[in-house]
Amino acid sequence: MPSLNTSVSLIRANYLFQTKPYKNLVAGRIPQNFIDDLISRSDIVGVINARVPLKRKGKEFSACCPFHNEKTPSFTVSENKQFYYCFGCHAKGNVIGFLMDYEHLSYIDAIESLAADAHLEVPHENDSFAHQDKLDKQPLYDILKLASELFQQQLKTSERAVNYLKQRGLSGEIAKQFKIGYAPDGWDFLISQLGKTKDDLLHLSKTGLIVNKENNKTYDRFRDRIIFPITDQRGRIIGFGGRVLDKGEPKYLNSPENAVFHKGYELYGLYETRVALRKIDRIIVVEGYMDVVALAQNGINYAVASLGTATTTEQIQKTFRTTHEIVYCYDGDNAGKKAAWRALENTLSVIRDGMVAKFLFLPDKEDPDTMVRKEGKQAFEQRIIDAMPLSTFLFENLKKECDLSSNEGKAQLATKANALIQKMHNSIFKDLLIEELSSMVGLSQQLLESKISSTIENKKIARQQAKPVRGQQVSNHKTRIAIALLLQNPFLATEHQVPENFREAFTKGLPLLYKLQKIIETNPTMTSAALLERLRDDEHETALNKLAVLQTPETENSDNIIDVYTDIIKRLHYEDRDEYLKHKINNNEPLTPEEQSEYLKPPTK
Ligand code: CTP
Ligand code: MN
Repeated sequence: MPSLNTSVSLIRANYLFQTKPYKNLVAGRIPQNFIDDLISRSDIVGVINARVPLKRKGKEFSACCPFHNEKTPSFTVSENKQFYYCFGCHAKGNVIGFLMDYEHLSYIDAIESLAADAHLEVPHENDSFAHQDKLDKQPLYDILKLASELFQQQLKTSERAVNYLKQRGLSGEIAKQFKIGYAPDGWDFLISQLGKTKDDLLHLSKTGLIVNKENNKTYDRFRDRIIFPITDQRGRIIGFGGRVLDKGEPKYLNSPENAVFHKGYELYGLYETRVALRKIDRIIVVEGYMDVVALAQNGINYAVASLGTATTTEQIQKTFRTTHEIVYCYDGDNAGKKAAWRALENTLSVIRDGMVAKFLFLPDKEDPDTMVRKEGKQAFEQRIIDAMPLSTFLFENLKKECDLSSNEGKAQLATKANALIQKMHNSIFKDLLIEELSSMVGLSQQLLESKISSTIENKKIARQQAKPVRGQQVSNHKTRIAIALLLQNPFLATEHQVPENFREAFTKGLPLLYKLQKIIETNPTMTSAALLERLRDDEHETALNKLAVLQTPETENSDNIIDVYTDIIKRLHYEDRDEYLKHKINNNEPLTPEEQSEYLKPPTK
């Protein structure tokens, strides 16, 4: 099974050393050249294979379709065309479309995700909203970083804080790695250090580092606390958690949500894990800051914490983009069990074949911090290995609530399990859960399956059906072939140009051909996938997606494709003019002398 981040290495070109400026071609948020380049540099086969293992089949690759339930593969990926197509459910698209549908990403997020895999920063246009957003956020990142540096300095000067960390088993090295700091006692440490100007004060207050009182007075949020900086995926500090040193309430205090910090999306320790390990075989999800740090201290440097809330689907998705195995490890108490069940529910709606989720329950009164300090790395890692598979946790828990010796109890179990399984994407794992359920309640799989219609897949089908077929249908067969040829081989635009008068041509489809020609001229080396990307949301999008995978003798004959294309364009030109002139004659409109001679001329070959 390929690991989820192999797509990184599958991005073809070494991009970092290129300094090609991106022209702003359209008034969108991301320059179109960047998107073209990104698509032509990424390899759809690698990107899909990392998520849905593909088998080579002749010129193409195939797999069971991830977008509908099937037993024999009808999902194909073309390396040449950088395009996927399912002969079963007709799902199709390029690498961006795949990421959008498969990972439920927005268009922008799909681009961001692809760019991140290629270690690229997505450029935004100067006047765009995104640029303004960046301008607004940068001072917050800056001040958070400065605050973190001050807290780290303060830790060195406070014997009490250092002793506290020592007593909890942490070394200076680990404290440094996690940038742990200390916020001194007093009400205006940060204000006096960083609040020199009005703007500074405003930024401090926007990050929640200082709190505004009603009478226009402000004070530091974190006072006399050990400080755990929270970083985003790029290592920028976005907030803090602060723990009291002695007894005191509340034990933990966190930064409030702000423009750069969104609790439900971030994971404490994810960035540090990525820095520490190149290949991440699994990640363990724990509850607290101290658990992450204590595990790292004991050589288990692949733990993340969900910041005191239930683990959200966004956090799970984010984690599964880093590794293919998650082990949830919550406290053994009731609250911990509840948190684990919530995590199970959220995992079901995210999990795909190739991803593994397990649950590790510690003895009562223990948490990962106390446990690993007590028994050390090896014993704790053994617990991780022995963790309970998701399916076991699921059925064990449901069985506890239902009496399986009666039909009523079995029905109850089936109903409850159905409700959960329904959240899942179609996958082999889902099929296996249904199989297990079937043997448990004594109902056939078929019957159960008919009752479990995946809500996710249904939504998708509903969306596809609701999507109107927009714009004119490209009907003339020759026109369709010409468009298919150009779409599948954009370089043809440079071999033989579409005549200027196709722009407002009489024949359906020719203006579209002209449009394609003009788009390709802006970037003659673009791939078909990039070309299609330019036409997302075009009135012809549906027709174009079909033509991009159209197979005809003309499109499959690669030997003399230029001649074939040239010939078709010439014929189309002639026929269009012919139609136009006939139309004029039929309407008793006079022909110009040029038009008269044109009307009599045979097609040129
Ligand atoms: N937490 C929080 N706010 C609180 C309490 C807890 O945000 N008032 C979050 C913190 O992220 C904390 C995690 O929940 O790290 C776990 O909290 P808790 O179970 O109270 O942690 P303990 O193990 O008791 O903390 P410690 O080991 O530091 O004593
Ligand atoms: Mn603890």
